[in-house]
Amino acid sequence: MLQIKQYKFKLSFKFSFLMQLFKFISNEVCVCPCVCVCFQALRDWVAIESDSSNMLKRPDLHRMMEMVAQKLRPMGGNVELVDIGEQELPNGQTIALPKVVTAQFGNDPNKHTVCVYGHVDVQPAKLEDGWATDPYNLTDIKGNLYGRGASDNKAPVLAWIHAVEAYQALNMELPVNVKFVIEGMEETGSNGLDAMILAQRDTFFSDVDYIIISDCGWLSRRPALTYGTRGNCYFYAEVEGPKQDLHSGVYGGTVIEPMTDLIGILDTLISPSGKILIPGIREAVAPLSDEEWKMYQDIQFDLDNYKNKIGVNQLMYSNKVDLLAHMWRYPTVSIHGIEGAFSDPGTKTVIPAKVIAKFSIRQVPNMDPALVKKQVTDYLHLVFAKRKSPNKLKVTMVIGAKPWLADTQHPLYEAGKAAVKRVFDVDPDLIREGGTIPIARTFQDVTRKSIIMMPIGGFDDGLHSQNEKIMLSLVAAGTRFLQALKTFKGPNCKTS
Ligand SMILES: *[C@@H]1O[C@H](CO)[C@@H](O)[C@H](O)[C@H]1NC(C)=O
Ligand SMILES: [Zn+2]
Repeated sequence: MLQIKQYKFKLSFKFSFLMQLFKFISNEVCVCPCVCVCFQALRDWVAIESDSSNMLKRPDLHRMMEMVAQKLRPMGGNVELVDIGEQELPNGQTIALPKVVTAQFGNDPNKHTVCVYGHVDVQPAKLEDGWATDPYNLTDIKGNLYGRGASDNKAPVLAWIHAVEAYQALNMELPVNVKFVIEGMEETGSNGLDAMILAQRDTFFSDVDYIIISDCGWLSRRPALTYGTRGNCYFYAEVEGPKQDLHSGVYGGTVIEPMTDLIGILDTLISPSGKILIPGIREAVAPLSDEEWKMYQDIQFDLDNYKNKIGVNQLMYSNKVDLLAHMWRYPTVSIHGIEGAFSDPGTKTVIPAKVIAKFSIRQVPNMDPALVKKQVTDYLHLVFAKRKSPNKLKVTMVIGAKPWLADTQHPLYEAGKAAVKRVFDVDPDLIREGGTIPIARTFQDVTRKSIIMMPIGGFDDGLHSQNEKIMLSLVAAGTRFLQALKTFKGPNCKTS
């Protein structure tokens, strides 16, 4: 254990803490007698159905936040449950938002301060959805821990808490001050958190130097650091015609159908080969540099695996670099659904009177959601006008989340790379996330702090899907990243 103090770090002290922490998680904690507690904590957390999208589960979510505070309080951190107000429901009623847990370990002005962000709410899950095990009963099958929220994001949050706990158990001084911000609304858009961050910018966040987010996964079996996420602009396009639904046998052929109009304009958004047709969108995208191209070349990624995983035999691009680039650093249009369309089984011969298409455009640097909103709205009205339809088109943008991108040359990333190297004995892939973690951008814009994403999760953990899991040893080759979890299998522990 004392070894930790003897490590010689090449980087400056302020970043060496990360390496210490990771080294710590990887080895020393094996001998810590509290490891059974670690597994039990994850089991207790997963047992709570903290589904932030289901209002009926709100009491569970409140209980979840209280449990997080209960976990942190005995550790002596300055723990607070921050009231972030209420959420307005579509029916006009309001419901209390889950409180945000903040905690602080150490306030030595001579040390740097890192802030770990995580969330403990989850996506919905039911056994009937096709889970092999009860999603709220953490189950160990051959080294994989199955349970909703195991990988996203309960185990990673606990891993960081246990790192601090382990320092304490060994009576060692933390090399930095550590803060936590743990929320319960991430899966539905972090309602209330932006305002809380803004409100505490000059208090809780004022002395934070770096923010760590472990809310994503690796790309392959090789460890990864994430340096970018795409944003998302989500649109509704509504076409309204007759005052009520009509019978196609009676009225078909006489009316100009809203659905036909809608399908027509939707088809002008993106070409079959994936080219976005809305003027101005592609032009805004930062060009792919040679260095970036080279970086993508080196990333471990198996196209066939990827195809198998999603069950397709052809992808939009057949080479790795193009595919990764379009997964991470180019925008795309996805059409999600049409409200008001007939989608039940059967053969109803209806002409829907009003239909609302839902589609979104993933955002990348240097796109600007405000501009994208105008580009999309103007374009759709233009193509709609060409149809000379008497129906009414209304386009609205309901989400406008910006992308986030970090500088991989920043000393924080250098420290992260060194930490991964030390733990796994392999250099991490530097990857991006095709999805959106809006809070990263908020942290960056509001607090102006540097952010690093250090994924603690496998590439096949099934986030948001059935049978979500986190590997006990993240990779067969003997990943030691989550030793704090792994060692619950030690001789002291009664599991299964
Ligand atoms: C969880 O699963 C185990 C193994 O199937 C079972 O023995 C246990 O009773 C379950 N616990 C709960 C709370 O359902
Ligand atoms: Zn998450």
